[in-house]
Parts: sequence; structure tokens; C-alpha cells
Amino acid sequence: MDKIVIHGGQRLKGEVTIHGAKNAALLIQCAALLTDRKCAIRHLPRLSDIATMSELLGHLGCEVTGDRTLKIDPAGVGEGPREAPYEMVKTMRASVTVMGPLLARHGFCRVSLPGGCAIGARPIDQHLKGLEALGAKIAIKHGYVELKAKRLRGANFVFDTVTVGGTQNVMMAATLAKGVTRLENVAREPEVEELARVLVKMGARISGAGGTAIEIEGVDALDGFDHAVVPDRIEAGTFAVAAAVTRGDVMLLDAPVDHMHATIAKLEEAGVECRVENAGLRVIGPERLSPVDISTRPYPGFPTDMQAQMMVLATCAAGQSLITETIFENRFMHVPELACMGADVTVHGHSAVVRGGPRLTGAEVMATDLRASASLVLAGLVADGTTEIRRVYHLDRGYEAIEKRLRGLGANIRRFHGAKG
Ligand code: EPU
Repeated sequence: MDKIVIHGGQRLKGEVTIHGAKNAALLIQCAALLTDRKCAIRHLPRLSDIATMSELLGHLGCEVTGDRTLKIDPAGVGEGPREAPYEMVKTMRASVTVMGPLLARHGFCRVSLPGGCAIGARPIDQHLKGLEALGAKIAIKHGYVELKAKRLRGANFVFDTVTVGGTQNVMMAATLAKGVTRLENVAREPEVEELARVLVKMGARISGAGGTAIEIEGVDALDGFDHAVVPDRIEAGTFAVAAAVTRGDVMLLDAPVDHMHATIAKLEEAGVECRVENAGLRVIGPERLSPVDISTRPYPGFPTDMQAQMMVLATCAAGQSLITETIFENRFMHVPELACMGADVTVHGHSAVVRGGPRLTGAEVMATDLRASASLVLAGLVADGTTEIRRVYHLDRGYEAIEKRLRGLGANIRRFHGAKG
């Protein structure tokens, strides 16, 4: 297993280009299952999650080639197993979003139930309830959910809770249903809008994506598409925090600033200078950071995927910050690791009190999930001395070559291959 070693204390300076958004890309890959025509996805990040999804598409009968630009030929899917097996769903929960497209286009699918994951229980009840409302017959057998429907039919459905994947899954299914579907209390994340944009390119009739209700008028068949993925707001936010905590000056080329209002607002509250320029976002860290209170919310609120990174910023601020996690029940796993580096954080249920001030010190720490890993890298950049991060495969799920790109900004960071543990 690889490890990352960081000698902290360098001010980051320079430019970094933000890659395509992982969470948008994964769903666009799934959308290819709604057609039998060829599809192309451009501006893809090189990430293990994207490779896992390509592998799943291959397992389902798609021909998949390329990496930065992925070509998908889904013509063979009808003859494939129409099943997302345990091994793949276990590796990546987003595998469950093949359900809607497979069901809508091929009348059947079998998907391993994801169970819990590191950041929480993460049920898929809303995905299933929504598909059931469109007429799916659902059975749970031997750890798999089986869904059947000759042809889905449009319906009105109100989500009990705001779910990004649930909204995307049911929206995709509804594109091929007979009649009109109205989905309410939907997720408004840019990744939902981005998926709707691709579906519309395929000939789907969708309105309202990005708002609280989405209307979909079903069509009989969908075409292929060619689409370049929007840049990643969370990757951009992570680099922004890197610049902020190192008192750096970094230009985030292509940063999707329109999707980053909540993050930018909190950075500014902490005293970070964020300049929106034509090329992207320039982030200048202050000599002294101010504390910030944060509560994660569905978009356009503050993203849960930036919570761990902002906690590192809070540890560097002069004073006390309160960070509340409302989306996932177990997303403070970075806290004990940050504590090993000297962070003073107390967790009370869904909230963490962060008493910033004392400089973090390098330590041996372990990555536990994707964003927790990112927070450890950020902590390592600012810490006094050497930080060694193990289990960095979590990082590779969502950040392409992060150590090379940080090195390009002046960080002293290296990856060692084949470290133990
Ligand atoms: N939920 C339910 N029932 C459902 C679905 C969700 O109760 O049927 C709950 C979840 O347990 C959670 C909340 O609703 O408490 C929100 O979950 P959501 O469905 O919105 O999350 P997701 O679609 O599984 C995506 C991202 C996550 C990101 C969340 C929230 C992808 C592939 N993943 O997950 O990204 O944290 O939305 O914004 O799009 C990451 O990139 O690190 C990551 C975890």
C-alpha cells in the first residue's frame, strides 16, 4: 500500500487546474445505460472510482475504452447480466445508480444492497420508493434488490429526505417512463443539474433540475451523447483550503465558482481572500485565520464533502469554531487522526468544537475515507515536521495525483509505493 509523506510549512504558490467532477462523472457514466447508442465523456479525472464504474459498465455488457475521454458503447447491455455484484457495490456505493437506467431501459436489474459505509448507514430506501412509485416491482433476496417493470409509468413522487443519488436514479428512470413524472423535495446539487443536461442532450424532456422540483416527460428512446464534465467544486474547495492554511497564493484554474458560493463565503469569513477571475478563483491565505462556524446542508448550503477540510482550517484559526455535520451521522473520523497531530477538537453528537491556535505537529496518521484523507493532507501541509499518511487509496478515489499537483505549488510532499498498513 502507498503512503504519502509531507514535510509541512511551505507556502503554496502558483496555479493548479481543477479536473472534472468525480460525482458528476460517475452519474454520466451510468446515463450511458439508458441508450444503445455510443456515448463519449470528456474531461474525466483519472480516479479509481471512475475506473470502478467503467469496470461495472463493462460487466453489464458495455464496451468501454479510453480514460480522459471515455467512449462507451452500450449496445451489448441487453445480453449482459443486468446486475451490479456485491464486489463492486462494496467498493463503490455509487454503483447503485445503475439501477434506474437498467430498469428503465432493460426492464430488470439486480443490485447488491450497499449496507453501511465508513461515513454512515446510507440507506437506499428513497431510491427504491421512487422507482416503486414509477411502477417497479421490488424484491429483496440474498442481499440483492431485484427490480422489474415492463415499462415504467410517470408518477408524482415526493422524497422524504433530500438525496443526491436518489434524485439522480429516479430522474434517469423517469426519462424512459410512459407519461409525466414530477419529483419533489429533490436534491439541487450541481451534479443533478449536470446529469439533467446530459439527459437532455440524449433527447430527454426535463425541466426544473437545480430547483426543488423536477418534471420529466418520458420518451420512447434516448440517443447517445458527447459531454465534457464540469470541473469539481470539491476538488477546487480542497485546493482553496490548502492555499488558505499555508498563507499561500494559488490560482485555481477552471474552478467552478458558481457552484462554490457556500465554500467561498466561509473562506472569506475566515479572512481568506477569494478573487473570482476569468480563469478561475485566486485564493490568498491571510497571516491569521479567524474561526468559522459551519453546518453542512444540502446544496446550496455548505457541502458535507468540504467539512473535514474546513475543520483543518478551523484548527489553524485563532479561536473556537463550531462544525456541525447534518448529512451523515459518522463523518468525524478525521477527528482522532487530527488529534494525533495536536488538534484540539471535542465532538458532541453531530457537532465538533474546534479550538484553533496551537500549531499542528506532524505524525503518522491513517486515511479513513476520501474527504478525511484530504483533510490529513491539508493538516500535513501546515504541520510542523513530518506527516505520514497511510491507506491513501481512499485519496485516489477522488483526487487525481494530488501529491504531484501540490508539489507543483511548492509543497514538500511525496508518495512512496508499497508501504505497509
Ligand atoms: N439517504 C437516505 N435514504 C436514501 C438515500 C439517502 O436516508 O435512499 C440519506 C443518506 O444516508 C444521507 C443523506 O440521505 O444521510 C444524503 O445522502 P445522498 O443520497 O444525498 O448521498 P449520495 O448520493 O449517496 C452523494 C455523493 C457524496 C456526497 C453526498 C451528499 C456521489 C457519488 N456521492 O452521495 O460524495 O457526500 O451526495 O452531498 O455523488 C464524496 O464525494 O466524498 C461523497 C461521499
